[in-house]
Amino acid sequence: MIIKKIGVLTSGGDGPGMNAAVRAVTRTALAANLEVAGIIRGYQGLIDDNIIAMDHRSVSNIISRGGTILKTARSEKFRNPEGKKIAFETLKRHNIDALVVIGGDGTYKGAVDMTNLFPFPVVGIPGSIDNDITGTDETIGCETAINTALGAIDNIRDTAQSMERIFIVEVMGNRSGYIALRVALATGAEDVIIPERTFDYRALTKELEDGNKKGKISWIIVTAEGSAKAAEVAKTVTMTTGLETRYVVLGHVQRGGSPVAADRILATRLGAAAVELLLKGEYGKAVGVIHEEITITDLHAAVKRPDSRTEEYTKLMKKLM
Ligand code: F6P
Repeated sequence: MIIKKIGVLTSGGDGPGMNAAVRAVTRTALAANLEVAGIIRGYQGLIDDNIIAMDHRSVSNIISRGGTILKTARSEKFRNPEGKKIAFETLKRHNIDALVVIGGDGTYKGAVDMTNLFPFPVVGIPGSIDNDITGTDETIGCETAINTALGAIDNIRDTAQSMERIFIVEVMGNRSGYIALRVALATGAEDVIIPERTFDYRALTKELEDGNKKGKISWIIVTAEGSAKAAEVAKTVTMTTGLETRYVVLGHVQRGGSPVAADRILATRLGAAAVELLLKGEYGKAVGVIHEEITITDLHAAVKRPDSRTEEYTKLMKKLM
């Protein structure tokens, strides 16, 4: 099959570095004399026929910008077969021969369906702050999200120490504790609550009480949103120990901002690799980077990946607190 025109879209939660990926996809494709169609608002844009032509200038000066110039959405309509059929018809009408999708596990599931149902050639690029898909050491956006959370927690540490308080800080990550664990280690947090480990409330409250008796009264406890809500942890700690707590939910702050160098480099390498893969006639695959090497994985294998560093990081954190 000869590819003359590709489509590119971003889908699901945006992440810093998605623009760098869109830029790399567009310019690699143009350099190979392909036409490029930008699909606005992810899969929903295929249903709404919201498509623009992309040229070299369309992606000028976006490598440093957070969010996604193509906009993104979580499309309910695309989830059902009728929506997917409309999406396929839109692609055909626009003479789009292949698609590059940038997003997380939901985006990959949609891509698997498009590949299997019609079949339509799709290649996936991992773009999500959560780092919860397989086939890559990190997803585009997660390094920036970690650094953003780190800056915020460093600030909280100043006030926690000055006012001698216990702070519970909730970070994003969907069902993954990847951001929480790394940010906890990097900020010298006293504890971390993540979905990958059973959390022992009794152990935490005992630790707080023992520490308090010894005069340690400023704490940072990081919790992953997919494990325990900061408000609940703070309430439980206060009820059990009588100690004063404050909680902060960092939320979408972590999803925005200019991507750090690691995310820009990852996005740029993967954007180019995705187009090269399509040009070789390979699809139904996702590109990633494992141990610095570009890696190709079957899209349907994109399931939640266990974090191999959980035990090592938590032990280290406890040892150093
Ligand atoms: O998948 C990225 C993410 O930011 C998750 O960390 C979070 O659970 C979710 O998206 C929030 O989604 P929304 O912006 O739709 O509320």
